[in-house]
Amino acid sequence: MSSDHEINFRTRKWVRPEDLNANGTLFGGSLLRWIDEEAAIYAILQLGNHRVVTKLISEINFVSSARQGDIIEMGLRATHFGRTSLTMRAEVRNMFTRQSILTIEKIVFVNLDESGTPVPHGYDTITLNRDRLPHGISPADIVTV
Ligand SMILES: CC(C)(COP(=O)(O)OP(=O)(O)OC[C@H]1O[C@@H](n2cnc3c(N)ncnc32)[C@H](O)[C@@H]1OP(=O)(O)O)[C@@H](O)C(=O)NCCC(=O)NCCS
Repeated sequence: MSSDHEINFRTRKWVRPEDLNANGTLFGGSLLRWIDEEAAIYAILQLGNHRVVTKLISEINFVSSARQGDIIEMGLRATHFGRTSLTMRAEVRNMFTRQSILTIEKIVFVNLDESGTPVPHGYDTITLNRDRLPHGISPADIVTV
């Protein structure tokens, strides 16, 4: 049974050669990309809208790192449902060394309408289900590269 403030570590990443810095440890930019994607997915599933954007990432203190071949796990938890925004807390830890790699107290995403304007999302509680999966995404909204 998880407490109200507990973070669920849902996503794991395997640290590969392309994710290393010149020191041979995990490159911070790779980790931030993973966290931002994880937070975007979390916001989409909490707010029921795929048009969400990163507004703010608070101070990041990298307290330990990971090496090639390590597995890290990332967790997020919504801490505040605003009118158009969602604030989350993030934590990343190294599964092998069991050390925390970083915590981020605030990641803020904003819910947008089709024109890119902030719009109320209407939610104030966390869902652990798939009941807010966005519907009606038109093919024009899907960007392929
Ligand atoms: C997201 C964006 C549309 C918001 O515009 P804005 O003029 O700040 O909009 P608002 O003032 O209506 O604020 C929207 C929400 O963001 C929150 N917000 C705005 N600035 C904030 C800040 N510095 N810190 C935390 N929350 C902030 C507001 O409190 C509001 O939330 P609420 O409705 O829950 O209270 C605009 O800043 C933007 O397009 N930014 C770029 C986003 C982006 O492209 N991110 C990807 C990385 S480049």
